[in-house]
Amino acid sequence: MTHHGSALQGFGLGLRPQHYERILAGDCAVDWFEILSENYLVPGGRPLYYLDRIAERFPLAMHGVSLSIGSSDPLNRSYLRDLARLARRVQPRLISDHLCWTGVDGLNLHDLMPLPQTDEAVHHVARRIGQVQDALGRQFVLENVSSYVGFTHSRLAEWQFLSAIVAESGCALLLDINNVYVNSVNHGFDALDYLDGLPRHSVRQIHLAGHSQDAAGTGLLIDTHDHPVCDAVWALYAAALERFGAVPSMIERDDRIPPLDDLLAELDQARDIASRVTTVSV
Ligand SMILES: [Fe+2]
Repeated sequence: MTHHGSALQGFGLGLRPQHYERILAGDCAVDWFEILSENYLVPGGRPLYYLDRIAERFPLAMHGVSLSIGSSDPLNRSYLRDLARLARRVQPRLISDHLCWTGVDGLNLHDLMPLPQTDEAVHHVARRIGQVQDALGRQFVLENVSSYVGFTHSRLAEWQFLSAIVAESGCALLLDINNVYVNSVNHGFDALDYLDGLPRHSVRQIHLAGHSQDAAGTGLLIDTHDHPVCDAVWALYAAALERFGAVPSMIERDDRIPPLDDLLAELDQARDIASRVTTVSV
């Protein structure tokens, strides 16, 4: 309630159950946490018990994986109602999900699949974002995903595709720096062109994450979110802050979760870069 309406500021981490107790012990130099919305949609139980206490002390961002904004299936209305209920409960500073589709005809692929980058897809996604924003009563935040294949009928570069969706829907962006880097390698574009092509005032949050080399030796980079942030991604982060200013940033680690101290040390690296790059205090 106290946090509603204001933007995120500073540096955050993904909230993970193995860190609940230490966070509540007050031993965590973090400005905010991002929660995985799907972990808190079931009423009652241990996750919500902890979440309510953490929400009293820290600003939160809600991050989902199930919206499937790009699918041709109708939006899942009961999922949207559940999200809206959770948002009333924890008053997040923002609510995000990915620019992807996760299934069609009721089948969930449990993967974040990219879309063909066409005008038709821009209109389709923008229309659905409008419905989401109506259901949640607020601006929606869209994250760029990594991909390993493109569509031959894509007519727009990924940054043009994102920009067109922002312009048509009025949504904002969660910029995943690792996903930009991974795609620049996998699809052979200049990551700085990507940053230069995005609308300057639409980036509300930044994800920093690690990735893996494909074990099959294809040369592809896989967005596994289970490694520390690499030097190339740190460099791209600095370039992003030069363009977009002091955007609230977090380390995103989804697998092989290290001790909290390791994540806090990585977050300090982000702070160091931001204090070198941005002129305003963050
Ligand atoms: Fe991300």
